[in-house]
Amino acid sequence: MAKQFDVVVIGAGPGGYIAAIRAAQLGMSVACIDAWSNAKGGPAPGGTCTNVGCIPSKALLQSSEHYEQAGHHFADHGIKVEGLGLDLAKLLGRKDNVVKQNNDGILYLFKKNKVTFFHGTAAFAGQVEGGWAIKVTGNASEDLVGKHVVVATGSSPRAFPGMPFDEKQILSNEGALTIPDVPKRLGVIGAGVIGLEMGSVWRRLGADVTILEAMPTFLGAADEQVAKEAFKALTKQGLKITMGVKIGEIQSGDTITVNYTDAAGAAQTLMVDKLIVSIGRVPHTAGLNAEGVGLKLDERGFVEVDADCKTGLPNVWAIGDVVRGPMLAHKAEEEGVAVAERIAGQHGHVNFNTVPWVIYTNPEISWVGQTEQSLKNEGRAYKAGTFPFLANGRARALGDTTGLVKILADATTDEILGVHIVGPQASELISECVVAMEFRAASEDIARICHAHPSLSEAVKEAALAVDKRALNF
Ligand code: FAD
Ligand code: NAI
Repeated sequence: MAKQFDVVVIGAGPGGYIAAIRAAQLGMSVACIDAWSNAKGGPAPGGTCTNVGCIPSKALLQSSEHYEQAGHHFADHGIKVEGLGLDLAKLLGRKDNVVKQNNDGILYLFKKNKVTFFHGTAAFAGQVEGGWAIKVTGNASEDLVGKHVVVATGSSPRAFPGMPFDEKQILSNEGALTIPDVPKRLGVIGAGVIGLEMGSVWRRLGADVTILEAMPTFLGAADEQVAKEAFKALTKQGLKITMGVKIGEIQSGDTITVNYTDAAGAAQTLMVDKLIVSIGRVPHTAGLNAEGVGLKLDERGFVEVDADCKTGLPNVWAIGDVVRGPMLAHKAEEEGVAVAERIAGQHGHVNFNTVPWVIYTNPEISWVGQTEQSLKNEGRAYKAGTFPFLANGRARALGDTTGLVKILADATTDEILGVHIVGPQASELISECVVAMEFRAASEDIARICHAHPSLSEAVKEAALAVDKRALNF
């Protein structure tokens, strides 16, 4: 006898597990199925984000940053470090513990909210009385029926054509998070978010890191001025970033040989001990039996949805990395909440214009809204205010003065249209700007709000003052 639920969520990544919890909060009976297993074969909910994405990468970024600070920057503060060494096994073990805490936290939240969790792979088995039949196989074997189904099956790394990941030499994000010895020479294909974050981790731990990027412009989606500043800082630290390459043949062995053509058209060869391939991710729908039930995918393999995350099938929704839009955990979460609320008859809403981006390098890079390039392309009249961290007292006290805050506002109404930050704690500073944009604030609003002194957030206020050319400290 199939178990009946109001909502069956397939996938317990940040999209799925949040959708399940919100639906349960709203009084619905909810099942959530997830296939991910930990090293012992047990359930590991949390998806890419928790297991091989956001969380472990930030754990490694933190540990490697401590190591770099102790090795190169403590001396500036008059702190002597002798006998500094690296216990990589412990560093990686700490990261695994952080991941486990998050897996366990989600299982606890499921219990607390009365979400029934199944550890296995879910596939559509057709439309039946009462909703959709869902077959769970693997660790759990169950037949479920969901009145509503939320597909939150996420994404997988894109492999380089003809060069599958072996996770020993040719690494996706999974292998990049578990390299057992610091490689002498590390190659990275793709100077996107993963390439920069994981490249930074291994450089700080001692690898000679070369990143090869196809596009001629560094971080093309970011504001040009901020991208330039970030490029300068990251290359100064020792990341070798080559733009505008065309990758040719890759030969894998003890040494990996990457043949490529540089921006000037000259043939080049890069020899490395490990190669991270971070050239984007693809939606994951394998095993769902999407075709069998007529769940439509677009030409790139994303589940087709409308603005409300409704698929073409009645009462079937899809959210997160498996649908259009940025592949970000917080975007997946927002869609999860919105879909649960829509199922409950409420009016869930996601504002794509205020989804922030953060790259957790040092300096951190963050932005929300439009760039100067996009405003120019639109022909929209705007004002820009920038403020460098060099002129911020807290940044000086921290010894971390790289970067700037830049605010773009409408030339007539002064409404904030975009904010771009490169510098210390950019990940945290951007939240104030997201709130301001959600409330359709003017730059004047931020400029007139009292910010604590000394704090990095004063750089945001000063950038807002600079929009009207009245910065006080620069
Ligand atoms: P996922 O997290 O991919 O979860 C999908 C889940 O569904 C998985 O557990 C999978 O096993 C399960 N599943 C798939 N098919 C089935 C099936 N048929 N049956 C049962 N279960 C199934 N984003 C940020 O916002 N900030 C960051 O700092 C950040 N860092 C990242 C770092 C790295 C290295 C990577 C790779 C990604 C990072 N991301 C980050 C992106 C973020 O991880 C994704 O956007 C997010 O995980 C998407 O959530 P999701 O719920 O859509 O899918
Ligand atoms: P990405 O899209 O950020 O970057 C991929 C890069 O590879 C691009 O610059 C692209 O031009 C380049 N590229 C593509 N094909 C190439 C080729 N053949 N040769 C050389 N370069 C090539 O994708 P990435 O880094 O794989 O990350 C995937 C996604 O995961 C991100 O888009 C992001 O959504 C998410 N993520 C988010 C993080 C965050 O929010 N801090 C951290 C890590 C990942």
